Amino acid sequence: MKVTFIAADGTATEVEVDEGQSLMQAAVSHDVDGIIGECGGSMMCATCHCYVDEAWAERVGAQQDGESDLLDCAVSEVRPGSRLSCQIRMTAELDGVVIHLPEAQL
Ligand code: FES
Repeated sequence: MKVTFIAADGTATEVEVDEGQSLMQAAVSHDVDGIIGECGGSMMCATCHCYVDEAWAERVGAQQDGESDLLDCAVSEVRPGSRLSCQIRMTAELDGVVIHLPEAQL
């Protein structure tokens, strides 16, 4: 399954993701700049902030409990598509998902 990360400067990077892997893990394991994932996915850092592409928003779904509190601590602007990428798990339905990255995480 594939995910395309689009950096703030428009550079697109397509990576392979296994089912069940989080999009934060996918980005970090492929050295995608723009996702840090400092806390390892335990919802404590907000350095995995991302923007789900509008066309995918419904399939990806809404924020999990507590995500919006943490997103308030994110360095980059919070927008309607903002999510913590560590809280988005890859499923077959999300194959091809497009994720935009914020300008900064720290
Ligand atoms: Fe820390 Fe997502 S990796 S909140």
